[in-house]
Amino acid sequence: MISIKSKREIELMRKTCELAKSTLEYIEEFVKPGVSTEELNTLCHEYILKHGAYPSPLDYHGFPKSICTSLNEVICHGIPNQKDVLKDGDILNIDVTTYLNKFHGDTNKTFLVGNVSEEAKKLVQVTYECMRIGIDQVKPGGHIGDIGAAISEYAHDHGYSVVEDYCGHGIGREFHEDPQVVHVGKRGTGAQIKPGMTFTIEPMINLGKKHCKVLKDGWTVITKDKKLSAQFEHTLLVTDDGHEILTLRSDETP
Ligand code: MF3
Ligand code: CO
Ligand code: CO
Repeated sequence: MISIKSKREIELMRKTCELAKSTLEYIEEFVKPGVSTEELNTLCHEYILKHGAYPSPLDYHGFPKSICTSLNEVICHGIPNQKDVLKDGDILNIDVTTYLNKFHGDTNKTFLVGNVSEEAKKLVQVTYECMRIGIDQVKPGGHIGDIGAAISEYAHDHGYSVVEDYCGHGIGREFHEDPQVVHVGKRGTGAQIKPGMTFTIEPMINLGKKHCKVLKDGWTVITKDKKLSAQFEHTLLVTDDGHEILTLRSDETP
């Protein structure tokens, strides 16, 4: 069942999403060569607590940390740790989810660490465009399938593959609600998009093939071919005439 948020619930979604967004803005200046993903986790954890919220990933189905840090060939759900120290040329996705006043807000961004190869930069840029093109599809009367159709067409046109094993999701009182928002698919299929829905779009785009492998830690998802993967994520609200990006940062165009 897809929940339709009331006016009051939408205000609370705005607040938690604002905090998730500002956590990503806050951490940006610390993302540079020499910092460990453990240190980034601690900084985000403290920032979120200081603002009266709880980091949703912590203890979520046993996840051990407060953010996900997915480095290079890691697709998603990377676990922050002291051994992963950022170096020049890395790409790092930081995924922040906040739980504030009983509502979750979820957003992520892939950061460039120092001087990154043209190949990696292009992957990150096109992945961002994939997310934005997916977001452009969101309006009442459309279907959830329109989102994945637009994203996969654009990714494939650039010679990249789209991860199928993980997807976007409804969000609100629960971290992951209906509907599933797949990043491949067919126009006109899936649930109808209606005002008051809140869900994420979070395409994972691979330089090589789409296939994934989960490491023995039970969380870290990597590309089977060990090639690079990038991701961006926003939480959206469907409005009467389109959508609003609830986690839009100040470095982005509306
Ligand atoms: N934030 C991720 C998402 O976009 C989910 C992370 S679940 C965790 O849906 F347990 F790994 F934190
Ligand atoms: Co999400
Ligand atoms: Co997320």
